[in-house]
Amino acid sequence: MLAGRRIVLGITGGVAAYKAAYLARRLVEHGAQVRVVMTRSATRFVGAQTLAAITGSHPVVELFDDDDVSPHTTLARWADSIVVAPATAATLSRLATGLSDDAVSATVLASTSPVVLAPAMHTEMWEQPATQRNIATLIADGYTIVGPDVGALAGGDEGVGRLADPDEIAESVAGVLPGGELSGQRVLVTAGGTREPIDPVRFIGNRSSGKMGNAIAVASARRGAAVTLVTTAPAPRHPRVEVIAVETAREMADAVWKAAEDADIALMAAAVADFAPEHPEATKLRRAAGPPQVVLGPTPDILGGLAAMEKRPFLVGFAAETGSIEAAIDKAREKGVDLLVANDVTALGSEFGSDTNEVVIVLPDGSTEPWELMTKSEVAERLLDRIEVLRSGGDTGGAPS
Ligand code: CTP
Repeated sequence: MLAGRRIVLGITGGVAAYKAAYLARRLVEHGAQVRVVMTRSATRFVGAQTLAAITGSHPVVELFDDDDVSPHTTLARWADSIVVAPATAATLSRLATGLSDDAVSATVLASTSPVVLAPAMHTEMWEQPATQRNIATLIADGYTIVGPDVGALAGGDEGVGRLADPDEIAESVAGVLPGGELSGQRVLVTAGGTREPIDPVRFIGNRSSGKMGNAIAVASARRGAAVTLVTTAPAPRHPRVEVIAVETAREMADAVWKAAEDADIALMAAAVADFAPEHPEATKLRRAAGPPQVVLGPTPDILGGLAAMEKRPFLVGFAAETGSIEAAIDKAREKGVDLLVANDVTALGSEFGSDTNEVVIVLPDGSTEPWELMTKSEVAERLLDRIEVLRSGGDTGGAPS
């Protein structure tokens, strides 16, 4: 994910600084070269020697007593990206006002590379208007903020202010770096199952978890695409994934058709209701009123709308079938897609909510490519590879059926 990338990890003085050692390790495992710059107070929470052992070079702590006459500008020029984790309230304040009075803030200020900040502090400090003003300023200045999360804090407290998960921070660092084979491309993904209200309490839904669509969104973002994820499900956080939360097929259709206007690739992994209650009740249906008569009407055909666009994106449909994927072959022929991903949701390992999937790729000529059972992330990666081959006019590769 970060092979050969040069990452400066800035560590500032909060308890979560101990987690920076693990973040450094994850960055190294992802193939990055890592150099560390720490504030003096950070060294009270995690040893400089620990970071030296993990990264292979001694952290910069002092601006004046270092062998290098200008360690902050050396580091800033070397870095492809800088990540500050944890970023304390004081550090956010320094960066928002341009005050460079320690090694970390001086390095960030001397840099022109993308910077990720992972704040961590007590809830009260995070929620202070001053901190929130600084965050708004930093976002406007182009910093990427990841977290903080809600959870256990120092001293047994609970609340918002916990350092984001180191793996998510590493993902954000990868996300801000330029490059990747989908760089400059816009990818539209749908995920989850739509919920069609019967009344304010009940809905008609389905078992889709959104995991396949999420995996595709993250894999596309990792390859440098700007991703729009239209979803009914909990979404991953990634600097290159814009999430549009929807509930119903109608809402999904509106969001998708708008985003499709400048999309290069659209992958419709959501399970969309084909029919929805025509007249959802404004108030809760009562048991005493007896079994309700719910009249259903058709929902918009989202995929159909995309297929009919004059200048449409490369279009990938999904078909969740039961027992046999025969019906998917007709869908691939008839729906105007460039590729259809079919799976049998009754097969072991491909059930709704599973982390794995066994899919069959179906091309518009009806040819099929069965893929072995793999994780949804692996399916997403291989799918993007397959799409790249098709978009560049490569072979179809499937067996005629
Ligand atoms: N889809 C859509 N709009 C709908 C229903 C489905 O865009 N109202 C999309 C799904 O996101 C999926 C593809 O169409 O990518 C195929 O969905 P599926 O439910 O398998 O197709 P249907 O034509 O509804 O076929 P079936 O008879 O199996 O319900």
